[in-house]
Amino acid sequence: MSEIILSVEHVTKKFPVSGGKFLTACDDITFNVRKGETVAVVGESGCGKTTLLKAIMNMQKPTSGKIIFHGEDITQLTGEAKRQNYRHIQMVFQDPTAAFNPKMKIKDIVCEPLLNFDLISKSDVDSRARELLTQVDLPADFVNRYPHNMSGGQRQRVAIARALALEPEIIACDEATSALDVSVQDTIIKLLVKLQREKGITYIFICHDMALVSLFSHRVAVMYLGNMMEKLDGDKLHQARHPYTRALLKAVFSTDQEKNQYIGILPGDIPSPLNIPSGCPFQNRCEYCQELCQQKKPDFRELEENHFVACHYPL
Ligand SMILES: Nc1ncnc2c1ncn2[C@@H]1O[C@H](COP(=O)(O)OP(=O)(O)OP(=O)(O)O)[C@@H](O)[C@H]1O
Ligand code: SF4
Ligand SMILES: [Mg+2]
Repeated sequence: MSEIILSVEHVTKKFPVSGGKFLTACDDITFNVRKGETVAVVGESGCGKTTLLKAIMNMQKPTSGKIIFHGEDITQLTGEAKRQNYRHIQMVFQDPTAAFNPKMKIKDIVCEPLLNFDLISKSDVDSRARELLTQVDLPADFVNRYPHNMSGGQRQRVAIARALALEPEIIACDEATSALDVSVQDTIIKLLVKLQREKGITYIFICHDMALVSLFSHRVAVMYLGNMMEKLDGDKLHQARHPYTRALLKAVFSTDQEKNQYIGILPGDIPSPLNIPSGCPFQNRCEYCQELCQQKKPDFRELEENHFVACHYPL
């Protein structure tokens, strides 16, 4: 197994909200990421995926906890050391259009990080941009286009080219394929997998789509209401033991399933993150809930090698 490249240790993020209250977006999250792997983080909207990623990207300081990258707690970096750290961890967003300046040509967009770090001169921009576009299977002469002259899938390839420019060790993708139609989504995933094989990049891939992540993720981490509920190998998802993960898997649609196959929809509502119940955060929606679940929050423990579960009564 490859070396651990990133350790998230007891990361909690609380946001102050009105009335002197705090909203807990991430609650004591701990997990490791190994070099060259894809770790998918899945869970319903609002469960804290983006907040976790922003902490890993050093865009938002956690309230407590550490994020260890190459032996150093990057949450403590400031000034130039913090800026230099961005070279190693890059991000691809759901909507690249919002991240791009519409007045910039594609070559200036993909080479902007290189210029910011003084790694190339302006006269190198055209040739370097052509190389980067070729890596993401776009025609090199797209360098002179503007973002609005491209399709959504092509723009997402530009976003990946830009993320690749600094040759980062980790690329964090936040719903990077969610806005694309299924066939374009498929080609982007294939591109990411190809680049990972060629360059040994590590991905942290945030997604709602359990079926999609199971196709290419080495590990899947499942979040609920700011908590990590289960983490297991991507090819062992069918052996998930947390009731929430099982419920998510039941809710996956498949085109080749039996017409009368049951598609589970989770009953009940997610509690407000302003008012998380004591005990297990999933208790009001869990059909296996018992007294202990309401009294004590389950630890996130390793049940077997590489399989972590936060549940008193794993299935
Ligand atoms: N800056 C902020 N101030 C206050 N609350 C915030 C802030 N950022 C996020 N939150 C809250 O933290 C919780 C987690 O938000 P987050 O964006 O991390 O969820 P998510 O899992 O990425 O959701 P989605 O799948 O919809 O993108 C939500 O309840 C959200 O409203
Ligand atoms: S701890 Fe209890 S309520 Fe929570 S998921 Fe497990 S069985 Fe359900
Ligand atoms: Mg999000």
